[in-house]
Amino acid sequence: MELRLEQIAKNYKDKKVLKGISLTMGTGVYGLLGPNGSGKTTLIRILANVLRPASGRVLYNNADIQTAGDKYRARIGYLPQDVAFYSDFTGRDYLEYSAALKWMEKRRAKERIENLARTVGLWNDLCRKCAAYSGGMQRRLGIAQALLDDPAILILDEPTSGLDPFERIKFRNIISAYSRDRLVLLSTHIVSDVEHIAAQIMMMEQGTIRHIHTGREYLDMMKQKVWLAEMPAGALMEYQNRAVISNVAARGDIMEVRVIDENRPSPDARPAAPTLEDAYLYIFNYLPQRAGRE
Ligand SMILES: Nc1ncnc2c1ncn2[C@@H]1O[C@H](COP(=O)(O)OP(=O)(O)OP(=O)(O)O)[C@@H](O)[C@H]1O
Ligand SMILES: [Mg+2]
Repeated sequence: MELRLEQIAKNYKDKKVLKGISLTMGTGVYGLLGPNGSGKTTLIRILANVLRPASGRVLYNNADIQTAGDKYRARIGYLPQDVAFYSDFTGRDYLEYSAALKWMEKRRAKERIENLARTVGLWNDLCRKCAAYSGGMQRRLGIAQALLDDPAILILDEPTSGLDPFERIKFRNIISAYSRDRLVLLSTHIVSDVEHIAAQIMMMEQGTIRHIHTGREYLDMMKQKVWLAEMPAGALMEYQNRAVISNVAARGDIMEVRVIDENRPSPDARPAAPTLEDAYLYIFNYLPQRAGRE
C-alpha cells in the first residue's frame, strides 16, 4: 500500500498555507507535529479528500484520489479536528448514521458498532445523547466512527485532544495494533502520543515538512544537547535568552534546570536522556532563535 503526495500546494487568497509537499507513506503510524497554524489540518483535509489542493496531487496505489472519488473515500476513515453532533442523536444513532453514509451492510454495522463501543469504552453510554458527552467521550466516539468500516487508511486530526492519560494510552495501543497492516496518519500536539508508536514523525512548519524521521533519529539528533544544570535564580533570567529551558525546579535559591543547548551550559552540567519533546523544542524554538540572531 502506498499513499504518495506530489507537490501539494494550497493557499487562502495570497497566503500560502502549504508550499509544495512531496511525501510517500506506506503502512504504519505517521505522526504529524507542528505549531498552531503550521498547516496540519489543511494537509489532512486534502488527504481525506474533503479539500482540493491548489496544485499537486495525491496518489493512492498510483491512482489520483480526485479521480478515484468515492472509491478512495470508501478506503479511508477520517476524524476531523472539530466534529459537531446533532443534538438529538444518541451515540448509537451517530454511529449507525455514519455506517449508513459508508454504505455498510446493516448486520456488519451493528457488530462493528458494538465491538468498537467496547473498545473505546463507550458501551454503557451508547443510549445517551452524544451532544451531552464530555469532550473526551465525544473524541472517543469520533475515533470509533473513523474505525467503523475497517479502513485501509486512517486519518485522525488531533484524536487525543481532551483524553485523560489513561484513555490516551488506550488509544495509543489501539492505533499501534491497527497500524500493523494499515496506514495511520495522525496529527497531535501531545508529542508522547507518537513518540513510541510512529514509524515516521513529521515536523511541520509554515506549510512545509521540515523533518521526517523515526523517533530514534530525533533522539540521536539531540545527543549532547540536553542537560541538567544548577544555577542561581538571577543567572536563570539571563540564560533563558540563549537556550530553551524545558523545566525548572526550585531548590531554595538554586534552580535545577533542564535545558536544550548545543553547548554544555556550565562545567558541572550533566547530559540528560533526550525525549522527542526535546527534539520538538530544539527544532521549533532553539534553531529559529539562533537563526534570528545570526
Ligand atoms: N478556511 C480558511 N480560510 C482562510 N485561512 C485558513 C482557512 N483554513 C486555514 N487557514 C489558515 O491556514 C493556516 C494553516 O491552518 P491549519 O488549520 O491547517 O493549521 P494547523 O497546523 O492544523 O493548526 P492547529 O495546530 O491550530 O490545528 C493558518 O494560518 C490558518 O489561519
Ligand atoms: Mg489543526
